[in-house]
Amino acid sequence: MDHGIKTVAVIGSGQMGGGIAQVAAVSGFDTVVYDLSGDALKRCKGLHDKLLSRAVEKGRMSEDDVTAAQGRLTYADSMSAMDNADIVIEAVVEDLDVKKKIFSGLADKFTGNQILASNTSSISITALATSVGDAADRFIGMHFFNPVPVMKLVEVINGLATSEETTARTIALSDAMGKVAVPANDRAGFVSNRVLMPMINEAFYAWMEGVAEPEHIDEIMKLGMAHPMGPLRLADFIGLDTCVHIMDVLAEGLNNDRYRACPLLKQLVVAGRLGNKTGRGVFDYSK
Ligand code: CAA
Ligand code: NAD
Repeated sequence: MDHGIKTVAVIGSGQMGGGIAQVAAVSGFDTVVYDLSGDALKRCKGLHDKLLSRAVEKGRMSEDDVTAAQGRLTYADSMSAMDNADIVIEAVVEDLDVKKKIFSGLADKFTGNQILASNTSSISITALATSVGDAADRFIGMHFFNPVPVMKLVEVINGLATSEETTARTIALSDAMGKVAVPANDRAGFVSNRVLMPMINEAFYAWMEGVAEPEHIDEIMKLGMAHPMGPLRLADFIGLDTCVHIMDVLAEGLNNDRYRACPLLKQLVVAGRLGNKTGRGVFDYSK
């Protein structure tokens, strides 16, 4: 199926939004990345430039291709820059109310055939789609993985009202972005975070209960299970705030206390130790 997409808009220029925008631009799409925060947009552009230069050094892209990709990228602090988008991919904080507020503002603006997609890690697509009224058939979960330029998966989640056309176009777009789309049903955490996040949470319990030091927990999982990163390092990489949000969605959505976030994980978030993005989480990245 033809995805019919020329311009991709991404809301949120953090780790995920920035990665999605980079891959979209490299894949030939005109790309607008919008954020409330000017600093976040600046960091996003800086990271794009660095990663694209690295792609030239490594021989993965020519200088001309990088210049063309950079030319397709617009960094916007105003939503009006997204007016021509054929798809909007939202990648802001993992919070139902914040996301619904954003989408309710988009429903009036995008009344054609545009796809409204969320990169949510865990929140019900059907619940998010209630904020867009009649556009619920054009609403879908398009869940990328971190770091987006490296990870091949897009978990595709239909809401109750998502049309077959929207799903087919989203799969075709994922394909055009060099990703592999795999479907999952609309249950809290879908497949990926229903399986991953309890493992990460358990690693915090193991640390809290003194089963082993954090570096040893990670070493055991890396060397013993062939994971590329240990679960605590991975939690820092994802963002400890995001991990707590996902556990909250699992506990609420699956109505089971075994998904409650570990108190030690929550304490680090309260202390502002969110992982790589703040320079310190379980581990210290300031040096
Ligand atoms: N952005 C873009 N590229 C990146 C990157 C980033 N943030 N981090 C690393 N890379 C690239 C590097 O440039 C490097 O490529 P080149 O050498 O060709 O330039 C390549 O990845 C390998 O990087 P490194 O050699 O520095 O390090 P590594 O071999 O340890 O790999 C890793 C880094 C790819 C991140 C690897 O450790 C890994 O796969 N970790 C697990 C990641 C994972 O599980 N992600 C899923 C998180 S869960 C999620 O996303 C869903 C959710 O909802 C929470
Ligand atoms: P992040 O904290 O790195 O970035 C979020 C960005 O959104 C920030 O730049 C912030 O300024 C911006 N923002 C917040 N409110 C906004 C608004 N109202 N309008 C515009 N911009 C706004 O977060 P992230 O790690 O990129 O996660 C974003 C989303 O992606 C979350 O839903 C998360 O669950 C999901 N996700 C995260 C990962 C991961 O590994 N971190 C993986 C897959 C999916």
